[in-house]
Amino acid sequence: MLQEFIMTRLDLFIARMVSQRACLNFAIEETAAMSGPVLELGLGNGRTYHHLRELVKGRDIFVFERKVESHPKSTPPLARLTSTPRGRSSRNSPRRSTRSRPTSSTSASSTTAPRA
Ligand SMILES: C[S@@+](CC[C@H](N)C(=O)[O-])C[C@H]1O[C@@H](n2cnc3c(N)ncnc32)[C@H](O)[C@@H]1O
Repeated sequence: MLQEFIMTRLDLFIARMVSQRACLNFAIEETAAMSGPVLELGLGNGRTYHHLRELVKGRDIFVFERKVESHPKSTPPLARLTSTPRGRSSRNSPRRSTRSRPTSSTSASSTTAPRA
């Protein structure tokens, strides 16, 4: 007898997160012997940045994000964060974020509102 297979939105969300973590862990493992910086394109709420920061040892992580709204504890120090406003070409006019945030790597006191 065939059992109906139901994927709820919760199931889909969990599957997406599990896949995301598996891909990140695979990339971390595959590049473990490499030196040099790690680049993240798209910070979002900072979950993947936080994962990289905890698991990648001894390498700087540089992040590109056009609109920084990450969780304060998952926000890179300004020196490693490049933010390009919407509508500007990152190829022609890159610039550092000018948002008012702490300059040290301890950005827990940022005024940026945490996202779920
Ligand atoms: C799906 S989110 C990233 C999710 C995140 N890595 C996480 O923790 O799951 C994609 C992010 O990429 C950023 N983004 C998309 N296109 C961009 C661009 N051309 N330049 C800079 N940031 C960009 C968006 O603003 C958004 O925050």
